Amino acid sequence: MERSIGFRASDVIQTILAVLVLGTVSLRVVECKQGSVPDALHYSAINCRKHSALLTDFGAVGDGKTLNTKAFKAAIDSLSKYASDGGAQLIVPPGKWLTGSFNLTSSHFTLFLHKDAIILASQDEAEFPLVSTLPSYGIGRDGNGDGRFSSLIFGTNLTDIVITGNNGTIDGQGKIWWDKFHQGQLNFTRPYMIEILYSDNIQISNLTLINSPSWFVHPTYSSNVLIQGLTILAPVDSPNTDGIDPDSCTNTRIEDCFVVSGDDCIAVKSGWDQYGIKFGMPTKHLIIRRFTCISPDSATIALGSEMSGGIQDVRVEDVTAINTQSGIRIKTAIGRGAYVKDIYARRMTFTTMKYVFYISSAYNQHPDTGFDPKALPEVKGINYKDVVATNVTYTARLEGIPNDHFTGICISNATISLSEMPKELQWNCSNIAGVTSNVTPKSCNLLPEKEKVDCAFPEDRLPIEDVHLKTCSTTETA
Ligand SMILES: *[C@@H]1O[C@H](CO)[C@@H](O)[C@H](O)[C@H]1NC(C)=O
Ligand SMILES: *[C@@H]1O[C@H](CO)[C@@H](O)[C@H](O)[C@H]1NC(C)=O
Ligand SMILES: *[C@@H]1O[C@H](CO)[C@@H](O)[C@H](O)[C@H]1NC(C)=O
Ligand SMILES: *[C@@H]1O[C@H](CO)[C@@H](O)[C@H](O)[C@H]1NC(C)=O
Ligand SMILES: *[C@@H]1O[C@H](CO)[C@@H](O)[C@H](O)[C@H]1NC(C)=O
Ligand SMILES: *[C@@H]1O[C@H](CO)[C@@H](O)[C@H](O)[C@H]1NC(C)=O
Ligand SMILES: *[C@@H]1O[C@H](CO)[C@@H](O)[C@H](O)[C@H]1NC(C)=O
Ligand SMILES: *[C@@H]1O[C@H](CO)[C@@H](O)[C@H](O)[C@H]1NC(C)=O
Repeated sequence: MERSIGFRASDVIQTILAVLVLGTVSLRVVECKQGSVPDALHYSAINCRKHSALLTDFGAVGDGKTLNTKAFKAAIDSLSKYASDGGAQLIVPPGKWLTGSFNLTSSHFTLFLHKDAIILASQDEAEFPLVSTLPSYGIGRDGNGDGRFSSLIFGTNLTDIVITGNNGTIDGQGKIWWDKFHQGQLNFTRPYMIEILYSDNIQISNLTLINSPSWFVHPTYSSNVLIQGLTILAPVDSPNTDGIDPDSCTNTRIEDCFVVSGDDCIAVKSGWDQYGIKFGMPTKHLIIRRFTCISPDSATIALGSEMSGGIQDVRVEDVTAINTQSGIRIKTAIGRGAYVKDIYARRMTFTTMKYVFYISSAYNQHPDTGFDPKALPEVKGINYKDVVATNVTYTARLEGIPNDHFTGICISNATISLSEMPKELQWNCSNIAGVTSNVTPKSCNLLPEKEKVDCAFPEDRLPIEDVHLKTCSTTETA
């Protein structure tokens, strides 16, 4: 099993223990003279920048207490004048930089975090301006009406944006938001950590992201998105802390990421019921590779449940999950419409899970009563192969919809070892059709065994695979 983000079982156990005991993920802070100009550092990016500035040039104080929202804004405003002159990078030096929400406002821009930089999200709601709900969702996803708090780092209508670091940290300090959510004290949908809308050529890489108030990384209505080398950590009982949510995006590559979270490690989306159908923007041409997940009550990779713009051509390989509810989980419902099709996954290694193969068709949470009960989702062409799973409760739960069968399901070369007290009904299948080959335990009769079937995996290359990174330096300045 290839795995470039190495970790030991003891680290994983320690993380889980810390999460259970402390309720939040905390990191040891490396003592370092805060705010000092770092030596020249090198990093990989889709584009290097001609101009460079330090956050401290704009009055920021990295003591973890001083609010730096104005410094981030001043820095980004000042650097935006270079958008058409070789672009600019803002360097966040060692220190703890408390800030409210800030916007990336110009194209050809890089936000670079030194490895000892920690961006700390403010816990004051007033530091997160209200922004309009997403047109493909109709209402805020927390289900509390119009308006939502802006994401900590937000950008819209941009091209060529890089958010990276040598594993610097962004800490969403989410606990206060999770508590308000549980106590029903939120009037608006919680902030995400990073959200980029309507943009092209985005890179988010080599960062540690912890304790987001809700979803962590949310590229939406965008294309050519590269997500690499993220370590994403949240307590396994924190609400809606999805790791990475590509939403109505085309050409996305997610690789070498490690997620521990309280919700789906990756959730592929494209809008919700009648709003998503009307907006009509699918997520397609998505690659996920060398991915590791821990999330005891959620999926390693979910497709949906908001999929009303469609999800097509998803290619997943070399996935490891250590303690999860399920592998790839398709989630949909009557009212969603659209489709989930041409899904391919291979080389997945799972241990300790409830369902290896999971398709749910009764995800009956709707934005409002205006959804169309005739809008049936089409689910077809689902291909899984080379799967090894151990300590499994149920091999498969695959439910289509009466009068809307989910078809073209292919599962080959899958070896599932059951837990000590396995359930009797290992394959629970309804309203589906397809084949299996060389699969144990033996499948249901809706997926008859055929000899020597090798389920499909595409041979062609997607354009996002041919994006090459340049070596950039933090000291470049004009
Ligand atoms: C991330 O860091 C690794 C080394 O830790 C490096 O090989 C890789 O090029 C970096 N990737 C990006 C996109 O910065
Ligand atoms: C960011 O931009 C949006 C508009 O796109 C605006 O509503 C919001 O107030 C801005 N946020 C900040 C912190 O200035
Ligand atoms: C951003 O782009 C979208 C889609 O092209 C457009 O509808 C919207 O008006 C643009 N927003 C801004 C702030 O330019
Ligand atoms: C980045 O930092 C996290 C948290 O400390 C750590 O678990 C991970 O291994 C680091 N990644 C790299 C590539 O150094
Ligand atoms: C939420 O709204 C209610 C009334 O609609 C108001 O009383 C309450 O103060 C608001 N809460 C916050 C945190 O703004
Ligand atoms: C197997 O899974 C169960 C939960 O279903 C868990 O309690 C147990 O620790 C796991 N065993 C091993 C060996 O991982
Ligand atoms: C079956 O899957 C396993 C695990 O990925 C792999 O090692 C093996 O080569 C596969 N067998 C065939 C015939 O492809
Ligand atoms: C089988 O799946 C159906 C939903 O399709 C569910 O209602 C039922 O409880 C499941 N049966 C078992 C034994 O898990």
